[in-house]
Amino acid sequence: MQPLPLISAQDIAARVAALGSEIAAQLPDETLTAVGVLCGAFVFMADLVRAIPRDVRCDFLGVRSYGAATETSGVVQITSDLNLPLAGQHVLLVEDIVDTGLTLRYLLDLLEARGPASLHVCTLLNKPSRRRVSVPLDFVGFDIPDRFVVGYGLDAGQKYRNLPYVAAIDEQQPPTSSR
Ligand code: IMP
Ligand code: MG
Repeated sequence: MQPLPLISAQDIAARVAALGSEIAAQLPDETLTAVGVLCGAFVFMADLVRAIPRDVRCDFLGVRSYGAATETSGVVQITSDLNLPLAGQHVLLVEDIVDTGLTLRYLLDLLEARGPASLHVCTLLNKPSRRRVSVPLDFVGFDIPDRFVVGYGLDAGQKYRNLPYVAAIDEQQPPTSSR
């Protein structure tokens, strides 16, 4: 049995379209480099870049968080680095979800060191009640409560990434391998 939707496919599609317009309106009218964080952001990234009426270069960062089973430690291992140089580029970091903020903090420091002309963050989901470090979120799809969510790219033990909607599965603990 599939988990019940928390955010429907229709609501996601409408919000992603609006985010694309917001991003195009607020960022400099130049080529954008979208950097998706694998694996969780791959579905969102695919829809988001098609909603941005702009020249967009696409690249991906593979990351894995170290830490206890249910908590990220903020120490991130880069499993696959970018192919494109970021120096002088307008960069949009695309995340699936910001929870404690530790992963995003690490990634922002990493990308900032590469000398982009600008660096903005777009996340599909945000769990503000779980934040441990403050991170700048320029574009947020949905604020959600402290529930463990899957679908639309997000997984629990590599399962559910292909659900077309976001669902909450609170009874299941998030395994480390999913982060
Ligand atoms: P953070 O470092 O705690 O902000 O979160 C890091 C990563 O944990 C996110 O990018 C996700 O990959 C994963 N994560 C956090 N919360 C959830 C969730 O509710 N479902 C699936 N993955 C999550
Ligand atoms: Mg992520």
